[in-house]
Amino acid sequence: MPRKKSVPWNGLLPKVVVRVPGPKARKIVARDKRVMSPSYTRAEPIVASDGWGCYVRDVDGNIFLDFSSGMFVLNYGYSHPRLISAVERQLRKLTHFAGTDFYYEAQVTLAEMLIRITPGRFEKRVYFGNSGAESVEAAFKCARWHTRRPRMLSYVGGFHGRTFGAMSLSSTNVLHHRYFAPLVPGVSFLPYPYCYRCPFKLEYPGCGFACIDFIKDMLRKVIPPEEVAAIITEPIQGSSGYIVPPPEYFKVIKEEFCDKYGWLFIVDEIQTGLGRTGKMFAIEHWKVIPDIVCVAKALAGGIAPIGATIARAEVMNWEPGAHASTFGGNLVACAAAIEGLKLLKEEKLVERAAKLGRVMLRRLTDLAERSRLIGDVRGKGLLVGIELVKNKRTKERAIKERNAVVQRALDKGLLIFRGGKSVIRLAPPLTITRQELDLGLDLFEEALREVERKC
Ligand SMILES: Cc1ncc(COP(=O)(O)O)c(C=O)c1O
Repeated sequence: MPRKKSVPWNGLLPKVVVRVPGPKARKIVARDKRVMSPSYTRAEPIVASDGWGCYVRDVDGNIFLDFSSGMFVLNYGYSHPRLISAVERQLRKLTHFAGTDFYYEAQVTLAEMLIRITPGRFEKRVYFGNSGAESVEAAFKCARWHTRRPRMLSYVGGFHGRTFGAMSLSSTNVLHHRYFAPLVPGVSFLPYPYCYRCPFKLEYPGCGFACIDFIKDMLRKVIPPEEVAAIITEPIQGSSGYIVPPPEYFKVIKEEFCDKYGWLFIVDEIQTGLGRTGKMFAIEHWKVIPDIVCVAKALAGGIAPIGATIARAEVMNWEPGAHASTFGGNLVACAAAIEGLKLLKEEKLVERAAKLGRVMLRRLTDLAERSRLIGDVRGKGLLVGIELVKNKRTKERAIKERNAVVQRALDKGLLIFRGGKSVIRLAPPLTITRQELDLGLDLFEEALREVERKC
């Protein structure tokens, strides 16, 4: 499919010919139910067929403008021709030899690129896995191995994956934990600075950082600080609804705890990294240098699975055999990731995310003032959360209304994603044009208005 810049797919706009699931989709969903694990949570009954740019088409011919980037993976859009060519070249050359038991130039090149773009001008090392969860597993194991300390700190509402280690660090949904115990021991959860719904019922900035005092109290009463290996955090909580901590927050964590007690600072940039927030890594908004960075999702632009864990060299100092994976750093995935990082630089996609993100945030903030349902709009770059409430004063969550807005948007050909309890997450591809961004926001506004008229 030829790629025409700034023009929607074949000159078409989003088009809904039949409400999802259409007849073809229904048949596939029925077959799916007979053979696939019932553990998958399906966001919408969409059966995807093909995609281009910011658009995805389903098997019944509906065309959706995707404001979720295929679950925050397709930062370069669907079927980017440069990524496809890079992958085709690699497919013809070599796809696999013998895992990480041998050496490959593509892995080294990608590692060099990742080292250059992650914060901190010091020597680093890179571990490749196949997913976000594996990238977090590697960070968790590396932190224990390096520090020889048994405990980990994580945040309430954080999501880091579904393997045992990553899930033990996660706390978005009790379903992720139910009947799986015992989990990896030694993990304690801290309150995340969710200022719109402060866990201490206080208001920033007059709160005096009660959430930091809470951690100090835990260190006096429950957790010996010298036993803590690391603290892991998403710089902006993703699954919980794009919660953005206040500007000073991570500096305080780094200086008052990590530096003081020798804890490693691990950032999970799996959803927020690689330009999404208008900086290469979201943690840069807080001007804090992490010891370990986890990336996955957008790294190979959705073409092949890959995850990477990038750490200070003196931290990732484990011995041969301590950790590895047959497919980690697969050559096809590396080729896509290398091309993606080149694209990010050459097409100035990080700057673009910052610029278009300002447009998106401004427009939604204006909309919030005129809307009965929008309680909070927050985010950075092309990652914006919209929290819906029944009442702006009591902040009672508008869960049914949020679901109705997502459904109305889908009926209009706009694909948006839920988060938290009553949040809508907007995260279009970084390659989106201004026209497409405006169009998506128009459709979102229409969907919201229709729901508001009914409630
Ligand atoms: C912040 C974050 N960390 C980790 C993960 C897990 O990634 P994966 O599903 O690739 O294992 C996700 C997935 O949604 C995520 O959003």
